[in-house]
Amino acid sequence: MQRIILTITFLLSPGFPSQEDIVWFNGSRGVPLDQQYASLGAPEVLLHCPVPEGNSTVGWKMSSTFRGILKAVRRDGSLVLQNASLAQNGEYSCHDLATGRLLRRIHLKLGYPPDKPLVWCWSTTYPAINCSWRLETKTHLPTYFSSTYRLGMGGEVKECVQATTVANSCSIDNVQMFSINPYVLNVTAVNPLGAATTHYYFFQNEILKPDPPEDLTVSQIPGQRKKILLVWKPPSSWKFPEYFPLKYLIRYSRDGTNTSKMTRPTEQISFVLTGIRPGVTYHAQVAAKDFLDHGQYSAWSPAASGAAWMPE
Ligand SMILES: *[C@@H]1O[C@H](CO)[C@@H](O)[C@H](O)[C@H]1NC(C)=O
Ligand SMILES: *[C@@H]1O[C@H](CO)[C@@H](O)[C@H](O)[C@H]1NC(C)=O
Ligand SMILES: *[C@@H]1O[C@H](CO)[C@@H](O)[C@H](O)[C@H]1NC(C)=O
Ligand SMILES: *[C@@H]1O[C@H](CO)[C@@H](O)[C@H](O)[C@H]1NC(C)=O
Ligand SMILES: *[C@@H]1O[C@H](CO)[C@@H](O)[C@H](O)[C@H]1NC(C)=O
Ligand SMILES: *[C@@H]1O[C@H](CO)[C@@H](O)[C@H](O)[C@H]1NC(C)=O
Repeated sequence: MQRIILTITFLLSPGFPSQEDIVWFNGSRGVPLDQQYASLGAPEVLLHCPVPEGNSTVGWKMSSTFRGILKAVRRDGSLVLQNASLAQNGEYSCHDLATGRLLRRIHLKLGYPPDKPLVWCWSTTYPAINCSWRLETKTHLPTYFSSTYRLGMGGEVKECVQATTVANSCSIDNVQMFSINPYVLNVTAVNPLGAATTHYYFFQNEILKPDPPEDLTVSQIPGQRKKILLVWKPPSSWKFPEYFPLKYLIRYSRDGTNTSKMTRPTEQISFVLTGIRPGVTYHAQVAAKDFLDHGQYSAWSPAASGAAWMPE
């Protein structure tokens, strides 16, 4: 009964600090700040207070605001927060109402446990793979990731290397190529409220997608009024062009038109376009794919433009 009366009295306290409030905030030294995590949207979050022996009553305050004493203190001294929301993040303190003595400090942080990471992997060159992931729901809490992989069901578990434990990507730099078994990547997200794991299955040769070819140029061929020469370089990220050749596709269009033409794939790094209209500018792009047809074509390179040679 005593407690209830006190609680009601303080509920009526004004929005600015009273003398009593100030006393309470004096001397939090020596009482450690405990960290507590809870789920956003939880119908009830309990903050516990060590009630001293004997005839004492406790009160709770949220330190970031001077709103006076918080209501909803249970008989055992714990504070009940309803419908937990981000606005309730912050530091709470529990005091002996008779003496003002600080009994406990809690830093409350609300958030969500991680959901299963959405994972995708890609490879821009043999024999390396990069993987990345994201969480669909923002957790509002520090969330760490671990990533491991193995080949097939019985393979040795190895680390997929992350730059940091909070990074959302990892890399595998020595993949066994042309394996008939899939790789399995295990990405686990952990935060103070829980953990969730995704297993992602892939074959390297299915996720292979080179970067676009580089340094495409369009130039004239002296004496040739209806031909232009295209020259480019393999993507610099493609590590072993001598062992794993690429094939290239060219698309080109006449200036001012919307229709483009495509060539047959070539393994060369140059190509002569024929049937060019004299005096007209053409725009060309090139894309690369693994010679053995694994994976996908790269994105198109930036366009390069030029016109055929014209006699003086
Ligand atoms: C706060 O504490 C200090 C020493 O611990 C004391 O000198 C001071 O009077 C206190 N202030 C109030 C408002 O109680
Ligand atoms: C508890 O405290 C109240 C007032 O603070 C007092 O009236 C009452 O006698 C006390 N009871 C005991 C058991 O100490
Ligand atoms: C908590 O949410 C429920 C359902 O939305 C609502 O009925 C209740 O009044 C809310 N309580 C507080 C303290 O906001
Ligand atoms: C793959 O990861 C490595 C190592 O972190 C990095 O150097 C490289 O740029 C990444 N490649 C891609 C295409 O993201
Ligand atoms: C996935 O990784 C987590 C964290 O390292 C581990 O606890 C779990 O056992 C792994 N799952 C499998 C199927 O390997
Ligand atoms: C090309 O396409 C754009 C939009 O798609 C259109 O506005 C324009 O008229 C087209 N030009 C020609 C020459 O067809």
